[in-house]
Amino acid sequence: MPVTCVIGTQWGDEGKGKIIDLISSRADVVVRYQGGANAGHTVKVRDQKFVFHLIPSGILHGKINVIGNGVVVDPAQLLAEIEEFSTRGVKVEGNLFVSELAHVVFPYHKAMDKLSEGRRGGARIGTTGRGIGPAYADRATRAGIRLAELFDRDHFARRVHANVAERNVIMKALYDGPPLDADAIVEEYYGYAQRLKPFVTDTVRLLRRALNSGRYVFVEGAQGVLLDVDFGTYPFVTSSNASTFGVGIGSGLPPRRLDEVMGVTKAYTTRVGEGPFPTEDLGETGEYLRKKGGEFGATTGRPRRCGWFDGVAMRFAVDLLSCDSIALTKVDVLTGLDELKICTAYRVNGEVVHDYPTNPLLSSQCEPIYETLPGWSEETRGARRFEDLPARCRQYIEAIERMIGRPIGLVSVGPDREETIYR
Ligand code: GDP
Ligand code: IMO
Ligand code: MG
Repeated sequence: MPVTCVIGTQWGDEGKGKIIDLISSRADVVVRYQGGANAGHTVKVRDQKFVFHLIPSGILHGKINVIGNGVVVDPAQLLAEIEEFSTRGVKVEGNLFVSELAHVVFPYHKAMDKLSEGRRGGARIGTTGRGIGPAYADRATRAGIRLAELFDRDHFARRVHANVAERNVIMKALYDGPPLDADAIVEEYYGYAQRLKPFVTDTVRLLRRALNSGRYVFVEGAQGVLLDVDFGTYPFVTSSNASTFGVGIGSGLPPRRLDEVMGVTKAYTTRVGEGPFPTEDLGETGEYLRKKGGEFGATTGRPRRCGWFDGVAMRFAVDLLSCDSIALTKVDVLTGLDELKICTAYRVNGEVVHDYPTNPLLSSQCEPIYETLPGWSEETRGARRFEDLPARCRQYIEAIERMIGRPIGLVSVGPDREETIYR
């Protein structure tokens, strides 16, 4: 059976949660491989709304769900999600497995995240404040603590004390921040570890066994390729490889086993946090999209920046990710706009450029060149076949398809499961 990756092609919030929920009904295993509780994936099922930060969006279908070793895990957040979904009747225990190799997010990570953002002033990244950057930094400098280490109390206490002693010096010197209490952290986190014990395991082996016994594995992307630490708009990115390149590293799945990549792309563009966004619309259209599309962060509640579809960035993204097909979401939000613009090229320093500049110093200087298409006024949420969509809406979708050179196999016309067109 294949391994399919479902992944965001923009700056996150493309509607991955909805798509993963839809197609994970066909999966045996759903695995997250990177990011942490910075993610917010929304799934709507009739009148119920579920927001996933750490637990994969496949949990609603009773599949095996894996939080891979590449995810940075905030145990309090994970326990809160386990409790919330269990209370709402979702079977979590027995279906959720967390890698013992996953790095743990500690209070000093969150404190450093917020303090360093404050210090950056105008150059801030606009992080989610979930401690993601500092936790990944610790992984790289080998100061990180992994879930498996939490179960040996003496060992764990020694490591926390060493880290907290160092962080307290840094926080005092740089930010005049209050010191953290290492004993209190050990106590709190040792408690979390006891509650998480039934979920923590060797997920590399679990996934290998699943593959060997012919199970269908789904890989759930978080964030989007333009937030990838290597290929995104650095430094305005997250701290992990959100692109497909992170899959092997963050899960232990063999890279050669990734058979299929489905990109999730919003029919316009949004971004939350700072950084270049060539097609951003600061006027009426941006406001229209934000309001009609409910573009407010699922994790932080921040208003998302909104703008036109960026065909240049998307060509780059789908090529880099090797997308086989695209799920185009939120098409319904565009109803009511007189005309629609698609960015087909950039002007950079007076020159017309058709290729997305991988040098982020240039991406902040890109001026969009647009092709304008006529809009439509008919509602599309009731459409279930491509032919049901207004002709101008189909034209818009086909224009995107031509521009990015990938088939749009699924069109989403509303947040609910049924509001979906399969082509
Ligand atoms: P994710 O992070 O990629 O999973 O996306 P988010 O959940 O952060 O944001 C997507 C939002 O759009 C959620 O509120 C979804 O319920 C909603 N959504 C998903 N698909 C559609 C769609 O086709 N139309 C509309 N109107 N909303 C959608
Ligand atoms: P999902 O999975 C949108 C953004 C933050 C900020 C930058 C760095 O829901 O699509 P971080 O806290 O990761 O250090 O913040 O990345 N960001 C996201 N934006 N969707 C997400 O996840 C995001 N996760 C991080 O807003 O600009
Ligand atoms: Mg989101």
